[in-house]
Amino acid sequence: MKIGVIGCGSMGKMLLERFSAAGTAASELFAANRGAEKLRAVSGICTVCGSNREAAEKADILFLCVRPADMKTVLEEIGHSVREPALTVSLNGSISFRLLEQFLPGRLAKAIPSVTAEIGRSQTLVCFNGRADDSDREKLKAVLSCMGSVTELPEREMGMGSELVSCMPGFVAAIFDVICQSAKRHTALSEEQIAEMVTETLCATGELMRAKQMSFREVIGRVATKGGITAEGTAVIAEQFPAAAEEMFRRTLEKRRITAENAERLFTGAEAD
Ligand SMILES: NC(=O)c1ccc[n+]([C@@H]2O[C@H](COP(=O)([O-])OP(=O)(O)OC[C@H]3O[C@@H](n4cnc5c(N)ncnc54)[C@H](OP(=O)(O)O)[C@@H]3O)[C@@H](O)[C@H]2O)c1
Repeated sequence: MKIGVIGCGSMGKMLLERFSAAGTAASELFAANRGAEKLRAVSGICTVCGSNREAAEKADILFLCVRPADMKTVLEEIGHSVREPALTVSLNGSISFRLLEQFLPGRLAKAIPSVTAEIGRSQTLVCFNGRADDSDREKLKAVLSCMGSVTELPEREMGMGSELVSCMPGFVAAIFDVICQSAKRHTALSEEQIAEMVTETLCATGELMRAKQMSFREVIGRVATKGGITAEGTAVIAEQFPAAAEEMFRRTLEKRRITAENAERLFTGAEAD
């Protein structure tokens, strides 16, 4: 299967590297980018195309890895070059199928990988437009499975799904960074020791939950015995953290809504030209 990637920045490069590492030959992997510099970095693992149109023409499955502000330019360029059975996959979550279909009326998907793709543990979220069929689902799943698991959601659930999977490594890191900074103020242990202890505990807790099929509440029940020390800490978290979690989702989902509105404006503005 021929895979095309338009935009070889952070996401496009990651996809090209993962596909190549999974065994896709350079002759089956086509890349295009606006500037030449990022193409040089991937030229050893793929076939460099002279234009976006060339990548679109070659691909059975085409990944669009450009920022929202650049998406319309790319779509205008490739609109007529995507071959009918090809599947076009946007890596951008905020541009709706309704907008994409103004330029690409065929088979469309969106894919949201997570940074954990770098260790083959992404839970990549995908959704499809009405034109895509089961063979498109299988095709995309087969291609993305080199980065981890693939989960299909309805388009309307991709926002919260992205919070839980794609944003979550950042949220988890931010929460535990606060905990480590606080621990530092109460101990002579070094910052590195604290981080190592917490990171190892974090990974092992996840693995324990998986191995024993334990829920978060069951873990709390096992560790925080009534009247004990852990229970003091979990009580504070139960009292004070819900407000922060609520506010976090309120703000991230609002930001998502504004980003989608801005994307809509970019597309509609061009329509009026
Ligand atoms: N799914 C996820 O988990 C996830 C995470 C982050 C981002 N994203 C989404 O993925 C997309 C790419 O993000 P990124 O972080 O990879 O951005 P990035 O690092 O800025 O890369 C964007 C690339 O697009 C290229 N480009 C811009 N206009 C182009 C055009 N007209 N034709 C060809 N190439 C063009 C840029 O080329 P130059 O070298 O010339 O600048 C750059 O290499 C965004 O829509 C972003 O929202 C998804």
